Amino acid sequence: MSHYPALRLRRTRAAAWSRRLHAETVLTPADLIWPLFVVEGEGLEQPIASLPGVSRWSVDGIVARAREARDLGIPCVALFPYTQPDRRSDDGAEALNPDNLMCQAIEALKDTVPEVGVLTDVALDPYTSHGHDGLLDEAGYVLNDATAEMLVGQALNQARAGADIIAPSDMMDGRIGMIREALESEGFVNVQIMSYAAKYASGFYGPFRDAVGGRGLLKGDKMTYQMDAANWQEALREVELDLDEGADSVMVKPGLPYLDIVTRVKERFEVPVFAYQVSGEYAMIEAAAASAAGDRDALVLETLLAFKRAGCSGVLTYHAAHAARLLGA
Ligand code: PBG
Repeated sequence: MSHYPALRLRRTRAAAWSRRLHAETVLTPADLIWPLFVVEGEGLEQPIASLPGVSRWSVDGIVARAREARDLGIPCVALFPYTQPDRRSDDGAEALNPDNLMCQAIEALKDTVPEVGVLTDVALDPYTSHGHDGLLDEAGYVLNDATAEMLVGQALNQARAGADIIAPSDMMDGRIGMIREALESEGFVNVQIMSYAAKYASGFYGPFRDAVGGRGLLKGDKMTYQMDAANWQEALREVELDLDEGADSVMVKPGLPYLDIVTRVKERFEVPVFAYQVSGEYAMIEAAAASAAGDRDALVLETLLAFKRAGCSGVLTYHAAHAARLLGA
């Protein structure tokens, strides 16, 4: 008999123990990567207005956050620098400075909390005076090949400082292969690459641009290098190329509006897939909680679990520490 009343799908839902027993997906603190914003100085915490509850921290604060991550069972943090306007330039050369803020933060973390993984962003937007991820020609077009050369230098700079996972978020063609080759040739055989393979030009990045200081600088949009929200086949091609070029894992970004992409990538390639629940998604949850449209804790846990169900190995989320606490680490 394959129907009611022999079959009642509510039977296994009737008690909490049974729901736990039948859960197909679990979320644990080990699934989380915590993005952190670094600012120059000491003893500084600068709240970000459009990202309520998230601050930029000076390097000492970043070290404290990494200790917190370790104690909560969060395996990895992701670093993004706020670069002062006077260190920005048209070519983003500060990205190559071996003593830049990122390198200082990476070194401090690896000196003090080496058991926490450090993922570093590769892209020029935190360093350019125009807020784009690469070098511009006279017409304002982001140059691919010249930018990719810079990104190789930036990635090596981070690897020399001790980065564990290089995460290019720029969407230039060919950069994963170039970075992989450079890492191999310098002996960084165990430095991972998590490529932002399917990164869409999105309206959900606004608060992040405030956090790294790029919002006011950026003219136009990033449509000539980031993906069109209309496309999924192109996402599979991006992922395939990045895997061929030597990526260890791939990322889909933003997160929730693109869960279909996560699932398609996972089913097609069967590789580690991560998603970035980006700043605008975080801000939406916080706004819902602030207006009592939803319960913060429930929204946080439900959205993060959805990433796991869709096929993610893990999620970059500004809610990482809060979620880990809720999960009772
Ligand atoms: C840029 C970069 C962005 C984010 C991560 N890296 C923004 C952009 O592409 O303009 C967004 C992350 C977020 O919104 O939380 N290299």
